[in-house]
Amino acid sequence: VEETLVLVKPDGVARKLSGEIIRRIEAKGYSVVDLRMVQPERSRLEQHYAEHQGKPFYEPLVAFMLEGPVVAIRVAGDRVIEGFRVLAGTTDPTLAAPGTIRGDFGRDWGLAVQQNLVHGSDSVESAQRELGLWFD
Ligand code: GTP
Ligand code: MG
Repeated sequence: VEETLVLVKPDGVARKLSGEIIRRIEAKGYSVVDLRMVQPERSRLEQHYAEHQGKPFYEPLVAFMLEGPVVAIRVAGDRVIEGFRVLAGTTDPTLAAPGTIRGDFGRDWGLAVQQNLVHGSDSVESAQRELGLWFD
């Protein structure tokens, strides 16, 4: 089966939504294989978001991710990479559909970066790379 990396971002942890997010992952039938709470260092975030280096939201994104702990979750399931991104909803929480994590709990806070509660890997290659970065 496929595996993906889910992160509950600092806004999700601060708003006490980690349990609700895990509940939705499990309700869908996916398996939590490994889970840890991490206070990430800048170097780990720079590797995680390497593809976004140079974009206008890159620095605010890294700064936001440094604001507090994140919950890193290794999730397994049939087509879970694409499936979790459907559960999460579209990147911009103001446009994310009701019934999705971002659609139900996110809004546009008028900040320099989308505080959109969760991260999910976007391909088999990113999932492998990101799981290696957040888990031994
Ligand atoms: P992740 O699952 O977090 O990777 O989200 P994504 O794949 O839906 O988005 P993407 O990888 O393109 O961007 C990573 C993160 O950068 C997003 O989750 C947002 O927090 C932020 N971000 C992306 N695009 C924009 C943008 O156009 N403006 C702003 N302000 N933030 C953005
Ligand atoms: Mg992404």
